[in-house]
Amino acid sequence: MDIISNPTQVEIKKAAQALKEGHLVAFPTETVYGLGADATNEKAVSRVYSVKGRPFEHPLIVHISSINQLSNWAIDIPEYALKLATEFWPGPVTLILKRSHLAKDFITGGQNYVAIRVPDNPIALALLENFENKHSSGIVAPSANRFGAVSPTSAIAVMAELGDHLSNSDLILDGGNCSVGIESTIIDATTEYPRIIRPGAVTSELIAKHTSLIVGFDYSKSQIRASGLLKSHYSPKAKLSLKYPVNPGDGFIAMENIPTPLGAIRLAAPKTTEQYAKELYAALRSGDERSLKHVIAIEPIGAGVAEAIRDRLGKASSK
Ligand code: TXA
Ligand code: MG
Repeated sequence: MDIISNPTQVEIKKAAQALKEGHLVAFPTETVYGLGADATNEKAVSRVYSVKGRPFEHPLIVHISSINQLSNWAIDIPEYALKLATEFWPGPVTLILKRSHLAKDFITGGQNYVAIRVPDNPIALALLENFENKHSSGIVAPSANRFGAVSPTSAIAVMAELGDHLSNSDLILDGGNCSVGIESTIIDATTEYPRIIRPGAVTSELIAKHTSLIVGFDYSKSQIRASGLLKSHYSPKAKLSLKYPVNPGDGFIAMENIPTPLGAIRLAAPKTTEQYAKELYAALRSGDERSLKHVIAIEPIGAGVAEAIRDRLGKASSK
């Protein structure tokens, strides 16, 4: 497959055409790279599952170019969900809503609910707009990694994850490193009150500040199946621990102010929690590239995106 760096409008148009023809196009979003397919094409979607090695009952997020497309995919949308979409789209928020007739079992894992988001990345948005021009449709895009592995935040990482599984007519659009670096906040909007079922850069505090909505947490009791909710996920090949001791030769990830233990190999030294989120997956990947056996990550403290980082580290370290 071809990797297209900094694609032009013409190249993005061609990529939209490739999607329409049933091929897969990996593309950047602000969170992580997604492996895109026409959300209405069962054959293309089934290739997404096989390329990822993902079990069929794990549903996919439909990406759309704007809130105007929402009613194509979802029905009975609660007022609070519209408020969230208006405030945070384009952005790293996914809403789970009751599905329309367009959202078939092969993207929802047979559930009556569909996950939807508008990504905040110029290449993703241009791809979606071009694709919708042809279709009035959407693009399903799970993170472009093998099932259970670390999400890619660069085109090279997509290549490393899926290069052996993609075919010649598939494409990778290279838009550089993702700005957020961890997957979107998923909000269950199928009940009377919204609940976060996967934490991300958009936190309950941020939501309260911007919308005055109170959003609950429910990572465990949700009726909804989400593979990111499995206890173990986002895992590098190295064994990841979140506690000292750190031995010589171990990989080490921590905020900049935490010194590198003697003999350890520093994989990231972010100055802020936002930077931690942005660098985390690349750091885990670089540990694997160096064939490190053991990586220690010291969790960031506090609220905000730090909570989502702790969620991912918890899962990545649980094998
Ligand atoms: O930031 C993101 O959300 C990235 C970018 C590419 O948009 N996508 C992403 O997709 O993380 P994925 O498939 O790797 O993770 C989406 C999670 C999965 O755990 C999936 O099970 C859950 O969302 N999900 C998707 N559709 C759902 C649905 N209808 N009901 C419940 N969970 C759903
Ligand atoms: Mg994923």
